[in-house]
Amino acid sequence: MNILIKNGTVINADGRCIADVVVKDGVITEVCQGARQGDGSSVLFQRENKTDEPSPCLEFDEVVDASGLLVLPGSIDVHTHFELSFGDTSPTGDGFSSADDFFTGTRAAACGGVTTIMDFVTPEKNENLVEALEKRKSVADAKTCIDYGLHMGISELNDRVLEEMADVKAAGVSSFKVFMTYAFKLTDDEFKRTLTRVKEIDALVMVHAEDHEALEANRAEFIATGKTDAWHHYLSRPEEVEAKAVKKAIKLAKETGGTLYIVHLACAEGLEAVIEAQQEGYPIYAETCPQYLNFTCDVYKRPDGRNFICSPPMKGKESQYALWASVCQGARQGDGSSGFFSRWSKPDEPSPCLAPDNAPTFGINTLATDHCPFQTYEKDRGKDDFTKTPNGVMGVENLYPYMLSQANKGILSFERVVELCTANPAKIFGIAEKKGEIAPGKDADIVLYDPTKEFTISQKNMHSTIDYTIWEGTKLKGYPVRTYSRGNLIYKNGEFLGESGWGRFIYD
Ligand code: URP
Ligand code: ZN
Ligand code: ZN
Repeated sequence: MNILIKNGTVINADGRCIADVVVKDGVITEVCQGARQGDGSSVLFQRENKTDEPSPCLEFDEVVDASGLLVLPGSIDVHTHFELSFGDTSPTGDGFSSADDFFTGTRAAACGGVTTIMDFVTPEKNENLVEALEKRKSVADAKTCIDYGLHMGISELNDRVLEEMADVKAAGVSSFKVFMTYAFKLTDDEFKRTLTRVKEIDALVMVHAEDHEALEANRAEFIATGKTDAWHHYLSRPEEVEAKAVKKAIKLAKETGGTLYIVHLACAEGLEAVIEAQQEGYPIYAETCPQYLNFTCDVYKRPDGRNFICSPPMKGKESQYALWASVCQGARQGDGSSGFFSRWSKPDEPSPCLAPDNAPTFGINTLATDHCPFQTYEKDRGKDDFTKTPNGVMGVENLYPYMLSQANKGILSFERVVELCTANPAKIFGIAEKKGEIAPGKDADIVLYDPTKEFTISQKNMHSTIDYTIWEGTKLKGYPVRTYSRGNLIYKNGEFLGESGWGRFIYD
């Protein structure tokens, strides 16, 4: 199957150009930059008539005129929770299962311009890690509509687990996820040993950083005093609870030299600590999520506040703008100054990227969603008691369109959105050879984006199974109109065209 996408504006993390993109059997074979005649026609077509100059792009099964459209690499969402069950999920039990499975979750992803997701393996106690990986892969293989990867959860640590981490790495997975809170948290010592181990086997640790003792003390106090509305979810895990854990995680990473990836970073003080460590040269990465950019903790005062319950919770305005500033500017240090901190005083004036070209960037490295929604009836179990509300919100269909809309409004550059949503995730998680860029040799994971299309997010036009969305009513300027997964058209103008089982494991 050969496809020609012509006359589009191709945008990669490092720049843009008007170009024709040639796709052959699922792979990009040519990006004919500037191959244009004075009359506007393309060299590509001129070559069609010259039989003595064979070209791989002479015959096309499909020719798409992308004039006026942006041609972008598909987004890589490295943080989703599909089919995540915990507790007793029988009808009478008190457990929960996240609403989207690998089919509905990746269907929604495809319709939001995502071409790769990365989810998690949660091994049972005493379970062999590679067996747990294979089990999760067989569930995902049958259902995913886009390519996928998995991170390995580590919720117990002993010599067996440390040894099996090398087997997991040999099976292709180089990212291990630990928690600093919840029942399955690691102790500080276990966390440190995990960091030491990933250094040995050349892998990385992803961490959910919230200080367990501090938040449990807050929860106990609120439960004892009957303060259980959604606002107290935020108050039980405020800025300092997250910042304390982030600083501890960084300290342990520095002591061991292990590569650390902090998931869903949501507070200014934690971000500041990340930047400091990055500037010192430590291999530390930070991800934030669109919910922390678009909302503040004020959502927990709304009547539907329980729908926004996730951990870490949305924070105050200072954190929101610190995250935005880092996302917009990359806190570049071309002149040695620390860049964005001064902007906290002008939170309502987001500025375009002011950074000198090629300056190193510090701060937020990736955007991902932590997509983990629960149906209304499940969220309602905690209507009057936040401790009974399952944690998690939706976003897999929203992240890329939301960020691209912000770029379209001039808040940040399209290149920076591509860097955060696809180029950097591809590099950090070891798939840059195939993903994260529109370039010859890469998989044809391509999004066509219409910058003129007006779109209002509603549960009705989303493709997940979830019966509400925290993004309801959000107006976007521009929207994806096509998504290709390895050259296969899986989304077009609001309609899902993919199929379950198409997605491949990215580390095979
Ligand atoms: O509240 C959240 N984020 N739920 C999903 C699991 C996690 O902690 O990432
Ligand atoms: Zn988490
Ligand atoms: Zn998560």
